[in-house]
Amino acid sequence: MQDRKNTIAGWVLGAGIVALGASLVTGEIFKGERPEQMGYPIEGVEAEGGGEAAEQPIAFFLASADAARGEAQFKKCAACHTINQGGPNGLGPNLWATMGKPVAHVAGFAYSDALKSHGGTWDWDTMSEWIKSPRNFAPGTKMTFAGISKPEDRADLLAYLNSQGSNLPLPPPPAVDTPAEVAAEEADQGALPGKAEDEPVLNETEAAQQPEGNVEGEAAPKTK
Ligand code: HEC
Repeated sequence: MQDRKNTIAGWVLGAGIVALGASLVTGEIFKGERPEQMGYPIEGVEAEGGGEAAEQPIAFFLASADAARGEAQFKKCAACHTINQGGPNGLGPNLWATMGKPVAHVAGFAYSDALKSHGGTWDWDTMSEWIKSPRNFAPGTKMTFAGISKPEDRADLLAYLNSQGSNLPLPPPPAVDTPAEVAAEEADQGALPGKAEDEPVLNETEAAQQPEGNVEGEAAPKTK
């Protein structure tokens, strides 16, 4: 009898020790620590406040651009550029009436191969990208200018450049959908703009409400 008791006591004690050990070990492995940041980071999604937020197109800033402020911005450029009509080339080419001209158009200026081979025209978007970062726009350019990152400042400068012999029409400010986008969408769907009734790609009610092909309703500019 005495033997049995001892055996049972031994097993109970042993089981206790094993259980205690196991709990110590699992506790060690699965430590319930609060993470520094709660939640799961999602790949490709910018944290609020951090990183570079998607920038509005330059047309958005051009709507409130001011050529006079742009003239002040141009001081950053004047070390290398003249902008008066018939002005001499400096380190950079004369910039009179550059907006609307092909990239690298000034005869007799020794452009870098990077800019010469770039192609395209100086419109609002290309000029904005160029001034934002010449190096990104034309890697290898010899315009050693870091760039103007603030879109408001670039818009002012563009307005000023445009006022010096170019006079390109301002781009329409980007509404929710510009008329061009609406037209493109319609073209995508195989409809002719303004022919919604002949080619009903919208449903009947929508088409009837949108005789102008203006699918965005009253807020969007008319296509005609
Ligand atoms: C340190 C001198 C320097 C400064 C500052 C500078 N540029 Fe330039 N710029 C150049 C050079 C050099 C070129 C020719 C680049 C090449 O050939 O790669 C050039 C080219 C250009 C062109 C292309 C012209 C064409 O004929 O296609 C434009 C536009 C331009 N600059 C605008 C500006 C504006 C606007 C600023 C001020 C925000 C500015 N630059 C500041 C040196 C400068």
